[in-house]
Amino acid sequence: MPHLFWGGADCVELAARFGTPLYVLDESVIRARCAEVRRDFLDRWPNASASYASKAFLTRTMARIVEEEGLGLDVVSLGELHTALSAGFPASRIEMHGSAKSEAELNAALDAGVGCIVVDGLMELEVLADLAARRERRAEILLRVTPGVAPHTHAYIATGHQGSKFGLPLDGDLLPQAVRLALDREFISLRGLHFHVGSQIFDPTAHVRSVIRVVEAMKRLREELGFRVLELNMGGGFGARSHPSEPHVPLSLFADAMMEALERACRVEGLEVPAVSMEPGRWIVSEAGITLYRVETVKELPGVTYVGVDGGMADNPRPALYQAVYRAVVANRPEELPDSEGTKVSMVGKCCETGDILIEEAALPPVRRGEVLALFNTGAYTFSMAGNYNRLCRPAVVLVKGGQAEVIAERQTLDDLLRGDRIPQRLARRGD
Ligand code: LLP
Repeated sequence: MPHLFWGGADCVELAARFGTPLYVLDESVIRARCAEVRRDFLDRWPNASASYASKAFLTRTMARIVEEEGLGLDVVSLGELHTALSAGFPASRIEMHGSAKSEAELNAALDAGVGCIVVDGLMELEVLADLAARRERRAEILLRVTPGVAPHTHAYIATGHQGSKFGLPLDGDLLPQAVRLALDREFISLRGLHFHVGSQIFDPTAHVRSVIRVVEAMKRLREELGFRVLELNMGGGFGARSHPSEPHVPLSLFADAMMEALERACRVEGLEVPAVSMEPGRWIVSEAGITLYRVETVKELPGVTYVGVDGGMADNPRPALYQAVYRAVVANRPEELPDSEGTKVSMVGKCCETGDILIEEAALPPVRRGEVLALFNTGAYTFSMAGNYNRLCRPAVVLVKGGQAEVIAERQTLDDLLRGDRIPQRLARRGD
């Protein structure tokens, strides 16, 4: 039976060569997604721009690919900004996000000359206005708003609902207050608004409703404050399928629906259509990635067989955090089906947690210790959310193109785990 290939490389060989667990990214999938953004969004609408939300997955190589593909980069922390800048990513194409930005982050964004800072609240705006004035550096900003719309997704990855910690509510006084303050301050240049409804969403309804609600707010801002929104950033959140055999989620499903709603609502309200932008993360990178694990143990109990692998919630906390659903195959016989009358098979991680379940009911044939399992759709929010629980080393990331595999993030070593680990003098021993 043919092995599983990813990006033209044999996954059994990748596991043997680079070790497991291993994140494997197919560069061509990432580039194809960026091309789809260009074709179905940037080239279709005047004044459209798009950034990749780097929280989904960021290394310097990823920043390079995104730059080559003509997208901007959305960063939310000093660490993401530093990674982007050290890859030589042009600051003017970086958008600085964050719901609780530190002064250090705002200063770094101003000093780097990022293209845009998305301001999350009034307090941040005041701090930013002071910092910008002190530096005599103009900050181009968008105000993040909460559209008050709840998308169909896990509650922990919804962001645009009423009461969300992100952004300024559309109703009430906070938004007009922020607009007034932004217009008043010399070194603040308010370009427009930003919303992001949530993540891993498959149906554009919430995005469309958000657009409509935001246009209503644009109208109020125009009438009450004379402020014209020049740019509207519609966030990201587009879903990724859990297996390559499922139908592709086209960007146009969201982009067309949002643009139609925007054009119609602006026409109805008598407003000019603003420049538009979006910032997908998961949709760009998730389906490009798989994680390879080696089976360490198979435990047959009445009613359930546990397949225990050499990674788990430390390299992919998503099932434990959001009950995220994944699919897996055996890399050396990917087409083999589960035993029809077989008991439930749970693919579980090695962490000391009952909840460390990668797949509750895995459609796997009987597997043997030492075999390699591939978990699909792990390009987003795995490496970027990985931790060292149980002192596990973070896996390496390998980028594959045309069958050639290269490490773009090294596996952590046991020595890496001890970096910065100090023993106080009073407990010191010779040889520490
Ligand atoms: N823009 C903003 C302002 C965001 O907050 C996010 C994601 C994105 C764009 C990109 O969303 P995407 O296109 O990737 O759905 N850790 C969670 C996802 C959290 C997403 C947070 N914000 C997960 O693993 O599902």
